[in-house]
Amino acid sequence: SGANVISHPLVQHKLTIMRDKGTSTQGFRRLLREISTLLCYEVTRDLPLAHQTIETPLEEMQAPTLAGKKLVFASVLRAGNGLLEGMLDLVPSARVAHVGLYRDPETLMPVEYYFKAPEDLNERLVIVVDPMLATANSAIAAIQKLKERSANNIRFLCLLAAPEGVAKFNEAHPDVPIYTASIDRKLNEKGYIVPGLGDAGDRMYG
Ligand code: PRP
Repeated sequence: SGANVISHPLVQHKLTIMRDKGTSTQGFRRLLREISTLLCYEVTRDLPLAHQTIETPLEEMQAPTLAGKKLVFASVLRAGNGLLEGMLDLVPSARVAHVGLYRDPETLMPVEYYFKAPEDLNERLVIVVDPMLATANSAIAAIQKLKERSANNIRFLCLLAAPEGVAKFNEAHPDVPIYTASIDRKLNEKGYIVPGLGDAGDRMYG
Protein backbone atom coordinates (compact mmCIF):
# COMPACT_ATOMS: atom_id res chain seq x y z
CA SER A 1 0.00 0.00 0.00
CA GLY A 2 1.00 3.67 -0.13
CA ALA A 3 2.64 4.83 -3.31
CA ASN A 4 5.99 4.59 -5.05
CA VAL A 5 7.38 8.13 -5.17
CA ILE A 6 9.68 8.71 -8.11
CA SER A 7 12.40 10.90 -6.67
CA HIS A 8 14.68 11.14 -9.71
CA PRO A 9 16.19 14.67 -9.74
CA LEU A 10 15.11 15.38 -13.31
CA VAL A 11 11.53 14.43 -12.43
CA GLN A 12 11.55 16.65 -9.35
CA HIS A 13 13.11 19.57 -11.22
CA LYS A 14 10.63 19.43 -14.08
CA LEU A 15 7.71 19.04 -11.67
CA THR A 16 8.75 22.23 -9.88
CA ILE A 17 8.67 24.20 -13.13
CA MET A 18 5.24 22.72 -13.91
CA ARG A 19 3.89 23.83 -10.54
CA ASP A 20 5.01 27.42 -11.13
CA LYS A 21 1.98 29.45 -12.17
CA GLY A 22 4.21 31.53 -14.45
CA THR A 23 4.85 28.52 -16.72
CA SER A 24 2.98 28.90 -20.02
CA THR A 25 0.62 26.37 -21.60
CA GLN A 26 3.29 25.60 -24.16
CA GLY A 27 5.93 25.10 -21.46
CA PHE A 28 3.60 23.01 -19.33
CA ARG A 29 2.73 20.69 -22.19
CA ARG A 30 6.35 20.21 -23.16
CA LEU A 31 7.41 19.49 -19.57
CA LEU A 32 4.58 17.01 -19.13
CA ARG A 33 5.74 15.14 -22.19
CA GLU A 34 9.35 15.13 -20.97
CA ILE A 35 8.47 14.08 -17.43
CA SER A 36 6.19 11.32 -18.70
CA THR A 37 9.09 9.57 -20.45
CA LEU A 38 11.01 9.58 -17.17
CA LEU A 39 7.99 8.30 -15.24
CA CYS A 40 7.50 5.62 -17.89
CA TYR A 41 11.11 4.50 -17.41
CA GLU A 42 10.50 4.07 -13.68
CA VAL A 43 7.10 2.37 -13.92
CA THR A 44 8.54 -0.22 -16.34
CA ARG A 45 11.89 -0.82 -14.65
CA ASP A 46 11.01 -4.29 -13.31
CA LEU A 47 9.28 -5.69 -16.40
CA PRO A 48 10.28 -9.29 -17.14
CA LEU A 49 12.61 -10.06 -20.02
CA ALA A 50 12.77 -13.12 -22.24
CA HIS A 51 15.56 -14.19 -24.55
CA GLN A 52 15.33 -14.19 -28.28
CA THR A 53 17.78 -15.44 -30.86
CA ILE A 54 19.13 -12.70 -33.12
CA GLU A 55 22.11 -12.36 -35.39
CA THR A 56 24.46 -9.46 -34.88
CA PRO A 57 26.75 -8.70 -37.85
CA LEU A 58 29.30 -10.97 -36.10
CA GLU A 59 27.39 -13.91 -34.65
CA GLU A 60 24.16 -15.35 -33.35
CA MET A 61 23.22 -14.52 -29.78
CA GLN A 62 20.47 -14.88 -27.19
CA ALA A 63 19.40 -11.30 -26.49
CA PRO A 64 16.87 -9.92 -24.00
CA THR A 65 13.55 -8.48 -25.13
CA LEU A 66 10.40 -7.64 -23.20
CA ALA A 67 8.54 -10.83 -22.32
CA GLY A 68 4.85 -11.38 -22.95
CA LYS A 69 2.28 -9.37 -24.79
CA LYS A 70 2.50 -5.70 -25.61
CA LEU A 71 1.69 -3.27 -22.81
CA VAL A 72 -1.54 -1.32 -22.64
CA PHE A 73 -1.48 2.33 -21.64
CA ALA A 74 -4.91 3.44 -20.44
CA SER A 75 -5.35 7.19 -20.58
CA VAL A 76 -7.96 8.85 -18.38
CA LEU A 77 -9.20 11.70 -20.56
CA ARG A 78 -8.48 14.30 -21.06
CA ALA A 79 -5.43 15.13 -18.94
CA GLY A 80 -4.14 11.56 -19.20
CA ASN A 81 -3.27 12.22 -22.82
CA GLY A 82 -0.51 14.56 -21.68
CA LEU A 83 1.23 11.62 -20.00
CA LEU A 84 0.32 9.19 -22.76
CA GLU A 85 2.33 10.95 -25.47
CA GLY A 86 5.66 10.69 -23.69
CA MET A 87 4.95 7.09 -22.68
CA LEU A 88 4.38 6.20 -26.33
CA ASP A 89 7.67 7.89 -27.23
CA LEU A 90 9.40 5.24 -25.09
CA VAL A 91 7.13 2.27 -25.82
CA PRO A 92 5.84 2.95 -29.33
CA SER A 93 4.33 -0.52 -29.72
CA ALA A 94 2.06 -0.22 -26.67
CA ARG A 95 -1.68 -0.63 -27.13
CA VAL A 96 -3.87 2.22 -25.89
CA ALA A 97 -7.14 2.33 -23.98
CA HIS A 98 -9.14 5.55 -23.54
CA VAL A 99 -11.36 6.14 -20.53
CA GLY A 100 -13.39 9.35 -20.70
CA LEU A 101 -14.33 10.67 -17.26
CA TYR A 102 -14.96 14.11 -15.94
CA ARG A 103 -15.35 15.07 -12.34
CA ASP A 104 -18.68 16.67 -11.48
CA PRO A 105 -17.65 19.97 -9.87
CA GLU A 106 -20.44 19.74 -7.27
CA THR A 107 -20.32 16.12 -6.16
CA LEU A 108 -16.70 15.40 -7.20
CA MET A 109 -18.01 12.09 -8.54
CA PRO A 110 -16.72 10.84 -11.88
CA VAL A 111 -19.08 10.84 -14.86
CA GLU A 112 -18.15 8.44 -17.64
CA TYR A 113 -18.53 9.57 -21.25
CA TYR A 114 -16.23 7.26 -23.21
CA PHE A 115 -14.61 3.86 -22.94
CA LYS A 116 -12.61 2.00 -25.55
CA ALA A 117 -10.00 -0.66 -24.78
CA PRO A 118 -8.25 -3.53 -26.57
CA GLU A 119 -10.04 -6.89 -26.16
CA ASP A 120 -7.41 -9.02 -24.47
CA LEU A 121 -6.73 -6.91 -21.37
CA ASN A 122 -6.47 -10.04 -19.20
CA GLU A 123 -3.24 -11.04 -20.99
CA ARG A 124 -1.48 -7.70 -20.69
CA LEU A 125 0.03 -5.32 -18.18
CA VAL A 126 -2.22 -2.24 -18.11
CA ILE A 127 -0.66 1.04 -17.01
CA VAL A 128 -3.34 3.61 -16.22
CA VAL A 129 -2.19 7.21 -16.60
CA ASP A 130 -3.70 10.44 -15.28
CA PRO A 131 -1.64 13.39 -14.02
CA MET A 132 -3.72 13.93 -10.86
CA LEU A 133 -4.93 11.63 -8.08
CA ALA A 134 -7.08 13.97 -5.97
CA THR A 135 -10.12 12.32 -4.33
CA ALA A 136 -9.13 9.24 -6.39
CA ASN A 137 -12.75 8.82 -7.50
CA SER A 138 -11.79 9.06 -11.19
CA ALA A 139 -8.90 6.60 -10.98
CA ILE A 140 -10.93 4.15 -8.90
CA ALA A 141 -13.78 4.24 -11.44
CA ALA A 142 -11.43 3.93 -14.44
CA ILE A 143 -9.75 0.88 -12.93
CA GLN A 144 -13.08 -0.64 -11.94
CA LYS A 145 -14.11 -0.40 -15.57
CA LEU A 146 -10.85 -1.98 -16.79
CA LYS A 147 -11.27 -4.81 -14.27
CA GLU A 148 -14.80 -5.41 -15.59
CA ARG A 149 -13.08 -5.95 -18.94
CA SER A 150 -10.85 -8.56 -17.25
CA ALA A 151 -7.68 -6.54 -16.66
CA ASN A 152 -5.86 -8.23 -13.79
CA ASN A 153 -2.33 -6.80 -13.91
CA ILE A 154 -2.64 -3.06 -13.45
CA ARG A 155 -0.40 -0.17 -12.36
CA PHE A 156 -1.47 3.43 -11.85
CA LEU A 157 0.83 6.29 -12.81
CA CYS A 158 0.25 9.93 -11.94
CA LEU A 159 2.25 13.08 -11.47
CA LEU A 160 0.73 14.34 -8.25
CA ALA A 161 -1.30 12.65 -5.54
CA ALA A 162 -3.12 13.82 -2.41
CA PRO A 163 -2.61 11.65 0.70
CA GLU A 164 -6.41 11.25 1.01
CA GLY A 165 -6.56 9.96 -2.57
CA VAL A 166 -3.71 7.50 -2.03
CA ALA A 167 -5.45 6.05 1.05
CA LYS A 168 -8.80 5.73 -0.70
CA PHE A 169 -7.25 4.22 -3.83
CA ASN A 170 -5.23 1.67 -1.80
CA GLU A 171 -8.42 0.59 -0.09
CA ALA A 172 -10.42 0.28 -3.33
CA HIS A 173 -7.69 -1.41 -5.40
CA PRO A 174 -5.11 -2.97 -3.05
CA ASP A 175 -3.70 -4.97 -5.96
CA VAL A 176 -2.81 -1.87 -8.02
CA PRO A 177 0.47 -0.10 -7.17
CA ILE A 178 0.59 3.69 -7.48
CA TYR A 179 3.58 5.49 -8.98
CA THR A 180 3.76 9.26 -8.53
CA ALA A 181 6.29 12.09 -8.62
CA SER A 182 4.89 13.61 -5.42
CA ILE A 183 2.42 13.14 -2.61
CA ASP A 184 1.38 16.69 -1.79
CA ARG A 185 0.12 18.08 1.51
CA LYS A 186 -3.64 17.64 1.19
CA LEU A 187 -6.89 18.02 -0.72
CA ASN A 188 -8.60 21.37 -0.27
CA GLU A 189 -12.37 21.87 0.19
CA LYS A 190 -12.87 22.05 -3.59
CA GLY A 191 -11.10 18.76 -4.12
CA TYR A 192 -7.91 20.31 -5.48
CA ILE A 193 -4.48 18.99 -4.56
CA VAL A 194 -2.48 21.61 -2.61
CA PRO A 195 0.05 23.00 -3.15
CA GLY A 196 -0.42 21.12 -6.44
CA LEU A 197 -0.17 22.68 -9.87
CA GLY A 198 -3.77 23.75 -10.52
CA ASP A 199 -5.99 21.85 -12.94
CA ALA A 200 -3.75 19.82 -15.24
CA GLY A 201 -6.35 19.64 -18.03
CA ASP A 202 -6.82 23.41 -18.01
CA ARG A 203 -3.09 24.14 -17.89
CA MET A 204 -2.53 21.85 -20.86
CA TYR A 205 -5.51 22.63 -23.01
CA GLY A 206 -6.88 25.92 -21.64
C1 PRP B 1 -8.97 15.76 -13.28
C2 PRP B 1 -7.77 14.84 -13.36
C3 PRP B 1 -8.30 13.53 -12.91
C4 PRP B 1 -9.31 13.93 -11.87
C5 PRP B 1 -8.69 13.77 -10.52
O1 PRP B 1 -9.77 15.59 -14.39
O2 PRP B 1 -7.19 14.77 -14.64
O3 PRP B 1 -8.92 12.78 -13.93
O4 PRP B 1 -9.64 15.31 -12.11
O5 PRP B 1 -9.63 14.02 -9.54
P1 PRP B 1 -10.19 12.91 -8.57
O6 PRP B 1 -9.01 12.08 -8.11
O7 PRP B 1 -10.77 13.73 -7.47
O8 PRP B 1 -11.21 12.12 -9.29
P2 PRP B 1 -11.02 16.54 -14.74
O9 PRP B 1 -12.27 15.99 -14.17
O10 PRP B 1 -10.66 17.94 -14.38
O11 PRP B 1 -11.15 16.34 -16.29
P3 PRP B 1 -10.14 16.73 -17.48
O12 PRP B 1 -8.94 15.81 -17.35
O13 PRP B 1 -10.97 16.40 -18.67
O14 PRP B 1 -9.78 18.16 -17.37
